[in-house]
Amino acid sequence: MTALTVLNARVLTMTGGGPRRGAAMRDVGVIERGFVQCEGERIVRVGAGAPEHVQGDVIDAAGRVCMPALVDAHAHLCWGGDRWSEWEQVRAGVPYSDILAAGGGILSTVRATRAASEMELAAGVRERLHAMARLGIGATEAKSGYGLEPASESRMLQAIEMAASDSPITVRRTFLGGHAIPPEDAAWPERLVREVIPEFARRFPDAAVDAFCEKNAFSVEQARAVLRAARAAGVPARLHTDQFNDLGGAAMAIEEGARTVDHLEASSQATIARVGAGAAIAVLLPCSGYALDGRYAPGRALIDAGAAVALGSNCNPGSAPTVDLRFAMHLAVRHCGLSCHEALVAATANAAHALGLGDQMGSIAPGMRANLIVLGERDERSLVHGFGGPAPAHVVLGGRVLA
Ligand code: NIG
Repeated sequence: MTALTVLNARVLTMTGGGPRRGAAMRDVGVIERGFVQCEGERIVRVGAGAPEHVQGDVIDAAGRVCMPALVDAHAHLCWGGDRWSEWEQVRAGVPYSDILAAGGGILSTVRATRAASEMELAAGVRERLHAMARLGIGATEAKSGYGLEPASESRMLQAIEMAASDSPITVRRTFLGGHAIPPEDAAWPERLVREVIPEFARRFPDAAVDAFCEKNAFSVEQARAVLRAARAAGVPARLHTDQFNDLGGAAMAIEEGARTVDHLEASSQATIARVGAGAAIAVLLPCSGYALDGRYAPGRALIDAGAAVALGSNCNPGSAPTVDLRFAMHLAVRHCGLSCHEALVAATANAAHALGLGDQMGSIAPGMRANLIVLGERDERSLVHGFGGPAPAHVVLGGRVLA
């Protein structure tokens, strides 16, 4: 069995019973000078000072930060084609939702994804996972949602599984059958709820269910039916909501017991208060505001209202063409009002809870998966302040140091 000890580190444990909410998001659980020991894929000991015995490989952190590997709470990762020309339209002022209504945006990626083979889709996911691991990401979501008919959705979920099987990153799949309504099938929302969600929950019981509640996508009532179908099928539900308009989707999702409400750029004061008081984790996706229109979710107000906030890259071919969760952390501080420590909690412990992985990763404690990063600096704020680099000095996933 492999063994690894990280010595002389400023350890950020991020431990806590469940998702950190409100003021608790400021606490990163510092051990000023400590160690972390791993055996096989697990962390076995964490403490202050030095361990009694050292065996196996050693990383001497020399006072630098050792923290949990990052967790990406919202990422699409699987698609065919590209949207480079469309981005120029967006930059010229055409709204994202108008492009979607005209059959572009998500729907243009649907056409390209339907035409792609499972191997081609898996190759794209594999490439993105590879890049993510180098950045210190130890777990991520990967959504379907560019098939919008059963065979293509199923091919996406299988491609994700294929790519995940040879990656050191833990991948949580999400069936995003409610991403949009395909023009050739106006009855898709009803079919999704009646037939497809129950069938997919049997075939892919690990996958959460998701929809996009927005003008020109799923209405609040259509999204509610999706969340109810997920609950009836025994799988967790998530919802893209309030990205451009607050239609009441977040409040509805909380009422229906969704695990997360994602985006929230357009949330009203009343919705912010509702999210602050509700159990769902608020997943913020500031890379979209950066790429699209300069609008960002009210992270400060959400945390002050008591919310548990998580962060995602939102990696997708349209609104967030990046796998760089560090950049999302930087933007969350720069534009959503989070402190550096809140952004670190949002991209580790809280993101792990958003994926249903909070008891396995996102924090440093005995029994947790040995997913660690050692930074090149003695102050963790360096990871949030710098954008586009530097990568962590060491990345450890499942107890193995990445070369
Ligand atoms: O989370 N808003 C809906 N879905 C994605 C965008 C997908 C796309 O543009 O292809 C999002 O931003």
